[in-house]
Amino acid sequence: MPATTASTPRQGHSAPALRVDKLGVSYGALVALDNVSWAVHSGELLGIIGPNGAGKSSCYEAVTAMLPRNGQVYLQGRDVSHIAPYRLAELGLKRAFQQNAFFNDLSVIENMIAVLGKTAHSSLFSCVFRPLYSARKYALASCFAAQQLERFGIPAAYHGMSPTEIPYGIQRMLSIALAYGDGAQALLLDEPAAGLGGEDMERLKHLLSELKQQGVALVVIEHHMDLIMSVADRICVLDLGRQLAYGTPAEIQRDPRVLEAYLGKSQ
Ligand SMILES: Nc1ncnc2c1ncn2[C@@H]1O[C@H](COP(=O)(O)OP(=O)(O)O)[C@@H](O)[C@H]1O
Ligand SMILES: [Mg+2]
Repeated sequence: MPATTASTPRQGHSAPALRVDKLGVSYGALVALDNVSWAVHSGELLGIIGPNGAGKSSCYEAVTAMLPRNGQVYLQGRDVSHIAPYRLAELGLKRAFQQNAFFNDLSVIENMIAVLGKTAHSSLFSCVFRPLYSARKYALASCFAAQQLERFGIPAAYHGMSPTEIPYGIQRMLSIALAYGDGAQALLLDEPAAGLGGEDMERLKHLLSELKQQGVALVVIEHHMDLIMSVADRICVLDLGRQLAYGTPAEIQRDPRVLEAYLGKSQ
């Protein structure tokens, strides 16, 4: 298959929003990821597919520097391989996890305010010496948080509830909203459609298209083939930690290695 190489910019000559080169992860003797390279531009969606245990989530751990790994990571053309995870988030590389993770003692909107960082929170100095300024900043943050939640498909009726009280489909959207926070250059989603059906799936598909249109570079690990084939610009297929194939959805669907190893020969 004439797969696009990870280093070849697809759109004009601009650097990819996010590029990884020869990523590798080992857990002791287990090689979970070996020599994996891909790139995603602003406004594009890269799908990552592969069976359970293929190394998909480990790939995100590697990109976000959550564990020791081999290889390089470039954000907007800048080598960020040696930058700490919290700094990567500040630079606009954001990630949602496979499992929902909320502050369950806080309401939905308080969860959103908590991730807004400097947009929402005043320094201790301001709180003590400029309380009116701090209160005003918090009120503005509440307003911004409510807008962000609505934008991610979470209606106002849910904002005052605990995350545990809202429907599962809305919880998945909340996970994405919290990962995105006050903005992202590149957003990594790990199985966002897990457990979703019908209307929730449509809401997710719509959100992914919107984020693409707004210029976010999306990387989405997903098992739902219909979803990923319809929203992805390119797909990286992992199998036992190796990069089995890399190309457009059409190229992936007719790649004999993918058909044999993952999709099943009959498809
Ligand atoms: N923290 C860990 N410690 C040891 N092995 C792990 C750890 N996380 C993942 N693995 C192993 O690494 C391999 C890849 O796992 P993972 O990246 O979670 O795959 P996927 O997301 O594709 O299902 C699997 O064999 C898994 O058991
Ligand atoms: Mg996983």
